[in-house]
Amino acid sequence: MQDTDKDQNARIQARGMLTGRRIAVTGGAGAIGAAIARHLVALGARVFVLDLTQPAQQVAGTRFVQADVTRRETLDAARAEIKREGGSIDGLVNCHGFQIRRKFEDYTEEEWARVVDVNFSGVFRSCQAFGPALREHGGSIVNISSVVGTIAARTGVAYGASKAAVSHLSRVLAVEWAPKVRVNAVAPGVVSSALTAELFANPEYAAKRMEMIPMKRIAEPEDIAGPVGFLLSDHAAMMTGQVLIVDGGFSLQ
Ligand SMILES: NC(=O)c1ccc[n+]([C@@H]2O[C@H](COP(=O)([O-])OP(=O)(O)OC[C@H]3O[C@@H](n4cnc5c(N)ncnc54)[C@H](O)[C@@H]3O)[C@@H](O)[C@H]2O)c1
Repeated sequence: MQDTDKDQNARIQARGMLTGRRIAVTGGAGAIGAAIARHLVALGARVFVLDLTQPAQQVAGTRFVQADVTRRETLDAARAEIKREGGSIDGLVNCHGFQIRRKFEDYTEEEWARVVDVNFSGVFRSCQAFGPALREHGGSIVNISSVVGTIAARTGVAYGASKAAVSHLSRVLAVEWAPKVRVNAVAPGVVSSALTAELFANPEYAAKRMEMIPMKRIAEPEDIAGPVGFLLSDHAAMMTGQVLIVDGGFSLQ
């Protein structure tokens, strides 16, 4: 039987949706994580918000599960709790993050270790904890990296290096876990959130920074949520191992 235009349109529409998918979002109580959670719910997913503390506002369609990405046992407990609610997950977004802004020479060894432990090793632990289920049923992972993992910015070398490592882990895992699991990263530029509020409170810094962004604004958390939803969906079925930069053109020049 031949496909009608209607059949084809229905199939294209269904590809973009996350109906019935179960997706865990680490750092889901933060600014970008909460926007991602809201967007995934709007696309039809059931979302599990994994974070240290409850989100300020509970998003309908999400469930909070306490977890600390620096402690593997809390991720295993979160996985068990999610399973009790009806099964494993089909998607994982690693959106936790932590920044200490220092010049290289001023970092203490403890500060360095802490940034790497949360940002990079946290992604390692989370992928190890949730990977086996994703590999069994198939699924998609999106790791939130940063544009400063690609370009050299004076915003803290530990943070930039940890994000470069997150991007690279995403590429290697994409190769190791294909074809069952797709693994991609999203690398935002500056996004309006607690991580950047202090910097942008300085009008001189804000004006200078704005000049460097061709789109002439800093991103809102929702600007990051859209690309994450796309990468999780079947619209991106042939995309894996990619680092999608979402920075309004900042890193182009
Ligand atoms: N805001 C930006 O400009 C920007 C730019 C590029 C990348 N990012 C990345 O986006 C992600 C989200 O950042 P945000 O701007 O929403 O910041 P945010 O501070 O609002 O959110 C970060 C979240 O991570 C959680 N978290 C921290 N340590 C954790 C741990 N050990 N275990 C579990 N959760 C933990 C925090 O509780 C918080 O809810 C981070 O990975 C960040 O590095 C942000």
